[in-house]
Amino acid sequence: MAMVSYSMHTVVVLLAVLFVPIHCSKPPNASQEHTLLEIQHLLYYPAVLRSWNNATDFCNTVQSSSVTVVCYDDVVTQLHIINSDKAPPLPKDFSIEALFAALVKLPSLKVLKLVSLGLWGQLPATISHLSSLEILNISSNHFTGTIQPAITSLTDLQSLVLDDNNFTGWIPARVGFLSRLSVLSLKNNLLNGPLPESLGSLVDLRVLGLSHNNLSGQVPDLHRLRNLQVLELEDNSLGPEFPRVTDRIISIVLRDNKFTAGLPEELHSFYQLKRLDIALNRFMGPFPTSILSLPSITYIDIEGNRFTGMLFEDLACNPALEFIDLSANLLTGKLPSCLVSSKARNVVYDGNCLTTNNGNEIKSQNPISFCSNQALAVGIIPRHHKTGKSSKVALALALAGGIIGGILLLGVAFLIFRQVHGKKAVKTQPPVPENASASYTSKLLSDARYVTRAMKLATLGIPPYRTFSLEELEEATNGFHTSTFIGEGSHGQMYRGQLRDGSFVAIQCLKMKRNHNTQRFTRHIELISKLRHQHLVSAIGHCFEFYLDDASVSRLFLVFEYAPNGTLRDWISGKNSGRSLSWSQRVAAAIGIVKGIQFLHSGIVPRLFSSNLKITDVLLDQNFAAKISCYNLSLVDQNIQKDGVHTKGNRIGKTTIVKDHPEKVDVYDFGVILLEIISGKPLCTQKEIESVKQHFQTRITAEDSAIKDIVDPVIRDACSDQSLTTMVEICCRCLVNDPLERPSVEDMLWNMQFAAQVQDAWHSSEGSPVSSSQRAMIQQ
Ligand SMILES: *[C@@H]1O[C@H](CO)[C@@H](O)[C@H](O)[C@H]1NC(C)=O
Ligand SMILES: *[C@@H]1O[C@H](CO)[C@@H](O)[C@H](O)[C@H]1NC(C)=O
Ligand SMILES: *[C@@H]1O[C@H](CO)[C@@H](O)[C@H](O)[C@H]1NC(C)=O
Ligand SMILES: *[C@@H]1O[C@H](CO)[C@@H](O)[C@H](O)[C@H]1NC(C)=O
Ligand SMILES: *[C@@H]1O[C@H](CO)[C@@H](O)[C@H](O)[C@H]1NC(C)=O
Repeated sequence: MAMVSYSMHTVVVLLAVLFVPIHCSKPPNASQEHTLLEIQHLLYYPAVLRSWNNATDFCNTVQSSSVTVVCYDDVVTQLHIINSDKAPPLPKDFSIEALFAALVKLPSLKVLKLVSLGLWGQLPATISHLSSLEILNISSNHFTGTIQPAITSLTDLQSLVLDDNNFTGWIPARVGFLSRLSVLSLKNNLLNGPLPESLGSLVDLRVLGLSHNNLSGQVPDLHRLRNLQVLELEDNSLGPEFPRVTDRIISIVLRDNKFTAGLPEELHSFYQLKRLDIALNRFMGPFPTSILSLPSITYIDIEGNRFTGMLFEDLACNPALEFIDLSANLLTGKLPSCLVSSKARNVVYDGNCLTTNNGNEIKSQNPISFCSNQALAVGIIPRHHKTGKSSKVALALALAGGIIGGILLLGVAFLIFRQVHGKKAVKTQPPVPENASASYTSKLLSDARYVTRAMKLATLGIPPYRTFSLEELEEATNGFHTSTFIGEGSHGQMYRGQLRDGSFVAIQCLKMKRNHNTQRFTRHIELISKLRHQHLVSAIGHCFEFYLDDASVSRLFLVFEYAPNGTLRDWISGKNSGRSLSWSQRVAAAIGIVKGIQFLHSGIVPRLFSSNLKITDVLLDQNFAAKISCYNLSLVDQNIQKDGVHTKGNRIGKTTIVKDHPEKVDVYDFGVILLEIISGKPLCTQKEIESVKQHFQTRITAEDSAIKDIVDPVIRDACSDQSLTTMVEICCRCLVNDPLERPSVEDMLWNMQFAAQVQDAWHSSEGSPVSSSQRAMIQQ
């Protein structure tokens, strides 16, 4: 046996010895060899190809970083010729057509890199004959003319790199035909015009590099590009809206463009984001400080924008943050100590209005008044200005909110307004579209760990805050005509107006006493302008009217979003001629409320607590997204704060630790809203609340629980057991007596997002329950 196996082994070895040398010494395809030498000739014998001659065995030469020929079955599949420095243009009689005529004689080429060789001329259409091409890198040459449209027929192309040339004209509209494209890099050319919409269909795209061109207009929607990691658009004229990308993005460079609209809410969920460079644009609005603590962030540059807002010493930063440039913005407050502490960090913050910890000014800072004045001024937008998408959203908005009520001692006006208007609006509304909430529930929460980060600041869809002129408001309300009047309180009236761009707003008019000066309001206004979130009825601007004699403020007008769908209660308790929200919509509304609460608690400074939030304070916008309309600005004003604490005293389960845990009071109040959302019963007295709460608690602990008993009959058959159970559980936890045992906002959000997803899955599988393995998957 040993003998046999020994000889077999010998045979194998012998065969190998016999065949391998023969295979290797077989002359490579002679015509290809000839072609390669021809290419050498057409390139004017560049130094990197010095070693090529008719004795070269191309398929078996050692590859180097500058020259590589790869063969497969003796057919050339890769050709890399790379010069280290950009070569000057080749002589006048160089012919790019002749070069490509030679290249197409290597029809199996999958990879072609001709870098820094001095190539010039227009890319010939014959390039389309290289139909196996997967990687094309012809960067650092002198190509001119438009990008050859025939290139879009190379449908195997995965990487198209034309960097550092002189390509002109528009990017071919049919670039979307290159459906396997993973890298598209056209940096440093002279391209102009808009980006083709078809970029949005390149679902495999990982890198999109268009920096240093003359491209303009809106970046197409890239949210379908689930693999997009690098987006580099530096030094163009793109804008105004922040590009729509997914949360898997790693690097965003928008430096030196024309972006103006605020940063998107989603930014806070970009858990892989390492580099954010949005310097030298025209971004305005509050700087979302939570990006400092994104889990992967190492590089942030917001230099030279008009970001406003206050920084705080105790802000959190990602410890891995290496570079941060905040300079030349309108930031106030103190430099976060996490930025000062580490010497390794490159921190630049000149040209703001920051102070040191003891309130002194620090180097190269402007006086605070500069920032506040500028902040007010940048809100001013010319009247003809269209705000694009946001104006469309604003169009259908929104019953106005009582934010300012708290600030300016007013509140009654708003209530009246809301009641009067809420009813009116409801009558004219179309039936609730079942899929209105889809945008929430179907939002895939695969990265649920970070979902909560996403909720801190959402200016999405809210027009930029600005100052209005009195003429503009008069025009919007037909001179404050009585037909536009919607309510009145002790300090002012509420009007409904329509702006020139067609959007509806609610305008609150406050009469001032003589001794109120502008300065005093600046602080309030600054605060108001920060209260901007998708799930708050947000202020979108203001207008001062002055007394002529002493220039003090005579009237202050506050302009709010307008929420056309009335209160959440109207759509829960069947008041609304029987129409009510579906289960998915209710869960989505609950999530919206908590996101609004989360924003008040942690998205702005000072923190705010809504205190005494009721279901009637929650309004629905045109998409049935929930918006909190009435929140207590008590922390701004010491006197009001005292009152606020007082009023809480008479509510069960809230008195004890109110001062230390005001956020838990909001959690309780939310629990009450959830009771009503689930049960469908209007709960107006403490007794009613207690009774339904008892009912819930027994159901949730009962062994044989027929959980559906407790749900609003209208939706009983259209909600998944598990989704319902999750919501009931969270509801009961919000209502426990010990404030410390109530869940955190993040916990609530997480569970409700889960409930939404389960409901989605249940809905799409038409009633089949979600298995526990699916739950485990979602939880990962
Ligand atoms: C040589 O290459 C050409 C194309 O490059 C091909 O058509 C031909 O069949 C090859 N000949 C051999 C002997 O492999
Ligand atoms: C290459 O081959 C040609 C003939 O095919 C011959 O004339 C020439 O001298 C050879 N060149 C080199 C460098 O060997
Ligand atoms: C193109 O090739 C050059 C030379 O190898 C390389 O330095 C460059 O990174 C490549 N470009 C891209 C986008 O891959
Ligand atoms: C390419 O563009 C640069 C800058 O616009 C210019 O200096 C250069 O001459 C151009 N080269 C060619 C070959 O057109
Ligand atoms: C950039 O494009 C604009 C038109 O979009 C044109 O007016 C301008 O001259 C171009 N700039 C350069 C440097 O080509």
